Amino acid sequence: MLLFVVVSFSITLAVVHTRPVVDSTYVAAVYEHNLIPGPLGPLSRLAALQHMQKSLDIYEEQAARAAQQGAQILVFPEDGIQGFDFSRSSISGYLETIPDPQQESWNPCTEPGRHNNTEVLQQLSCIARRNNLYLVANMADLQPCPLQTDPSSSCPSDGRWQFNTNVVFRSDGLLVVRYHKQNLFFEEAFDTPPQPEIITFETPFAGRFGIMICFDILFHDPTITLVEKGVRQLVYPTAWFNHLPLLGSIQFQRAFSLGANVTLLAANIRKDKLTHGSTGSGIYTPFSATYYHAQRGDPEEGRLLVARVPVLDPLWMGQSVATEEGVVRAESTSSAATGSGFCQQESSFDSHHPETASSDPPFSPTFFSTMVYDHFTFVLLNKTEGEVNVCNGTFCCHLQYRWSPQGSGKELYALGAFAGTHTTLGRFALQVCAIVRCAGLDVSSCGQEVEEAESKMDFLLEGNFGTRYVYPSVLASKFVLEQPEHLERAADGRVTMKHSNMSGGLVTACLYGRMYHLDNE
Ligand SMILES: *[C@@H]1O[C@H](CO)[C@@H](O)[C@H](O)[C@H]1NC(C)=O
Ligand SMILES: *[C@@H]1O[C@H](CO)[C@@H](O)[C@H](O)[C@H]1NC(C)=O
Ligand SMILES: *[C@@H]1O[C@H](CO)[C@@H](O)[C@H](O)[C@H]1NC(C)=O
Ligand SMILES: *[C@@H]1O[C@H](CO)[C@@H](O)[C@H](O)[C@H]1NC(C)=O
Ligand SMILES: *[C@@H]1O[C@H](CO)[C@@H](O)[C@H](O)[C@H]1NC(C)=O
Repeated sequence: MLLFVVVSFSITLAVVHTRPVVDSTYVAAVYEHNLIPGPLGPLSRLAALQHMQKSLDIYEEQAARAAQQGAQILVFPEDGIQGFDFSRSSISGYLETIPDPQQESWNPCTEPGRHNNTEVLQQLSCIARRNNLYLVANMADLQPCPLQTDPSSSCPSDGRWQFNTNVVFRSDGLLVVRYHKQNLFFEEAFDTPPQPEIITFETPFAGRFGIMICFDILFHDPTITLVEKGVRQLVYPTAWFNHLPLLGSIQFQRAFSLGANVTLLAANIRKDKLTHGSTGSGIYTPFSATYYHAQRGDPEEGRLLVARVPVLDPLWMGQSVATEEGVVRAESTSSAATGSGFCQQESSFDSHHPETASSDPPFSPTFFSTMVYDHFTFVLLNKTEGEVNVCNGTFCCHLQYRWSPQGSGKELYALGAFAGTHTTLGRFALQVCAIVRCAGLDVSSCGQEVEEAESKMDFLLEGNFGTRYVYPSVLASKFVLEQPEHLERAADGRVTMKHSNMSGGLVTACLYGRMYHLDNE
């Protein structure tokens, strides 16, 4: 019996009919928490506890609801308990010193007296224990560090590290791992850990999971290090501000799960703002997506998502997973020992291959416009069907398209290319191909944020990437995700995404390439 939706979707030769046997699935839950604002200013421990209790009460209720639906693991968002925008000192009432689970085995629920000042840890542990599920939450950790005269010491001058931290509790309440966020996003209250922490934990129902937090998803450490070690399931508390049209929350969560061929359990906070609000959580596998994204004007409230998903951990599955014909063939031609989606595979898709086309597409005039703070080179799609190319240096994007302007028929679309280093929201090197619906009718609006579209488009989008790490997404009107019909990477770096028969208007279709190796240049 198949309890999750298998979407018709193929990666190279592997038409994904990989079906786990009945018992190699588990039930995962994520909770999008509506942030509860606290009083301003530095709070006493007591006042901070009173503020956090409001969220912990909701966590307790939601854990009970998740457990009723059979959830075996539940993920809560980053900053969900205390909120964000703290300074180094204003967060102090919220901090607890989280003992290192690699050094000592501690169940805060059954042994609350062992460590002082650990009320939040105790409650989270009891929530896991009472509801008999693995619980992942995010909180603020204070670790005293030795003040050293050595200027290269990473211990801050006040003699303490403050870390943005995930904690994981076993279903009996035992604290199993903690993880300190590596890639901070303008978080004045927190320190970067002295070394990247590559943390995994084992579960009896699905094997191994890796851990990361929010902005980490865009960087090599710990995320890609985990994936390249064969970790295929990731828990992901986040507090993500949407940056359409390339870095929407659910858009990038989906893209990462597909690009890395992993399961991602993503819990975001809900926080409406005039621009760049936070919402968008989901349970993503390479085959399915169960997600939630609030629409403009929706009441500000939390949302629990629960889904049954296949176990992807290759070690846990051992021999127990049935594979079907076709998959064996695909595996025999790939080096995907771990199933990591980054493995290069031979192309089997050349019927419409641009390099086999008899002539180059006609020259189209390009223009520049800003998209998520980067200067993209664009060409307009000014016919109802055709082929266009746009390059930024030697990095080129190619598009074959056919679209049917809908409704008012007044929507402008463009194809953009960017190769360079993004430096506004942090620093990361990119190669991106994106089809976007322009926000208005002027070319200068191409790349601006837009949430809705009426025009559907059949397309084949391709880029000659200088990286194996390419994250594909198709975002339709009003935050609906579509599963790309066909994705393929060739040995020479070309990545192709083909899609048709959209259910809604196209907002963005994107191949987001990360050039991790250039980040520090
Ligand atoms: C906890 O705090 C109390 C009161 O300050 C102190 O007496 C006790 O020794 C502390 N316990 C631990 C385990 O640090
Ligand atoms: C993704 O993982 C599945 C198994 O979980 C495997 O069958 C498939 O070949 C992988 N795809 C890629 C592109 O590596
Ligand atoms: C599309 O743009 C090209 C280049 O500017 C121009 O020659 C052509 O007339 C345009 N086509 C339409 C249908 O506007
Ligand atoms: C790529 O585009 C940027 C503008 O976004 C431009 O400054 C740069 O020169 C382009 N690179 C090449 C090699 O064309
Ligand atoms: C798209 O829809 C058309 C018409 O309904 C159908 O003939 C075609 O097979 C569909 N293509 C795919 C890939 O589903």
